[in-house]
Amino acid sequence: MGYFISFEGVEGCGKTTQIKLLHEFLTARGRSVLLTREPGGCAIADKIRAILLDAENHAMSPLAELLLYASARAQHVAEVITPALEAGRIVLCDRFFDATVAYQCFGRGIDRDTIAVLNTLACQETTPELTILVDCDPHIGLSRARKRIESSQGPREERFELEALSFHQRVRGGYLHLAAEEPNRFVIVNGDDTIETIFAAISEHVVQHLPEELRVIC
Ligand SMILES: Nc1ncnc2c1ncn2[C@@H]1O[C@H](COP(=O)(O)OP(=O)(O)OP(=O)(O)O)[C@@H](O)[C@H]1O
Ligand SMILES: [Mg+2]
Repeated sequence: MGYFISFEGVEGCGKTTQIKLLHEFLTARGRSVLLTREPGGCAIADKIRAILLDAENHAMSPLAELLLYASARAQHVAEVITPALEAGRIVLCDRFFDATVAYQCFGRGIDRDTIAVLNTLACQETTPELTILVDCDPHIGLSRARKRIESSQGPREERFELEALSFHQRVRGGYLHLAAEEPNRFVIVNGDDTIETIFAAISEHVVQHLPEELRVIC
């Protein structure tokens, strides 16, 4: 079996920046690494992503949102993540099931047990062994994310960026709560630091956590 690492944190905390650096770092050291993301990660789930992140879909009910996430995840896990792990690869996933608890439970107020049932159904036995939480003040994260959206082309994936700051504060609190519940799986890094400082912390943790057969040298 391979090794499954997820990245989590509020909008604009730096997940995508850091996961790409980790992908380069591990690939340069000869590991076979799959870089993927949620929602999305395969053709069917990418179509669901477009619905989920489209700011025009402001009428989407919290339950419809939750079920779309679960649906996209079920496809992504079955089609992409589980086969890669079975092939012995390291899987890096930009957001995974903790995001559903942080956003839909702590953010939207949906009952946690309902979310847990859907997460278990979608993931079966496939769960991250290590989760990097890039913790960041949502005020800073949102201003970074907005700048990125303004400067990028393609569809404006900003349905969540348009939520109130209080929503993002609850999401941040949710992530910290999850990290406290599972201290052996979560590693928290400070997303307010520079990109280089954050990556130094992440790479050190990953090097320490990788199983023997996948171990790399810093
Ligand atoms: N530590 C940092 N300091 C300053 N700017 C940063 C830092 N990390 C990332 N950025 C910049 O902030 C923007 C958002 O970063 P990134 O896309 O990596 O965040 P994200 O967590 O993936 O966001 P989203 O949740 O919207 O996908 C990018 O323009 C990136 O270059
Ligand atoms: Mg991102």
